[in-house]
Amino acid sequence: MRRFNYLALVFCVGSVYAVPPDWPEVCPDIVNRTRWDGRLPVAVDYAIIPIKFVVIHHTVTPECTSETSCSSMVRSIQNFHMDTLEFQDIGYNFLVGGDGKVYEGASWHKVGAHTRGYNSRSLGLAFIGNFSNKTPSDAQLKAAKDFLECAMELGELDKNYQLFGARQVSATESPGAKLFNEIKKWRHFSRSP
Ligand SMILES: *[C@@H]1O[C@H](CO)[C@@H](O)[C@H](O)[C@H]1NC(C)=O
Ligand SMILES: *[C@@H]1O[C@H](CO)[C@@H](O)[C@H](O)[C@H]1NC(C)=O
Repeated sequence: MRRFNYLALVFCVGSVYAVPPDWPEVCPDIVNRTRWDGRLPVAVDYAIIPIKFVVIHHTVTPECTSETSCSSMVRSIQNFHMDTLEFQDIGYNFLVGGDGKVYEGASWHKVGAHTRGYNSRSLGLAFIGNFSNKTPSDAQLKAAKDFLECAMELGELDKNYQLFGARQVSATESPGAKLFNEIKKWRHFSRSP
């Protein structure tokens, strides 16, 4: 298993994180791993697209409001996931910053490590910050919504995908009460995932 992953990584490393050629208009600015100075994953597992579920999380870290501070936050989350939790990469597929940009995590058609039982069939999208007692900024919410629309147009997400909060399927507060109330209004929200 390890050996297979390692070979897959070596084979694909040049193209894995490249931007697809036909980039839909709706896509927000996605800060790639080169831009936030991410580490290479230890191994990569591929997911089958289109993905049918989106799981929303919050990172329970301080918020960030610029590309510099958000990049630094994403790097520390990656370090924590890889060094302390011993994940093969940052666990979330993508993260949304308070600066209104989306940060590439484990990325497209990869199996993340964010929601036990759902990793291989969902996209884990994490809002940077703690949203138990406050709602994310309009810019942060818009970036997330545009990102999901973008993912659908790219064919990564199923047109009928279902979205839910991590708390609906695991023992966690995530994505925080306030953010959870917000995503309940979203078109693809599922009450019973
Ligand atoms: C990452 O983003 C930068 C700046 O937008 C771009 O120049 C670079 O080609 C991208 N790298 C990859 C691997 O997509
Ligand atoms: C997140 O915010 C809530 C409400 O303000 C607070 O009670 C909780 O301790 C915070 N979590 C962390 C890990 O800081």
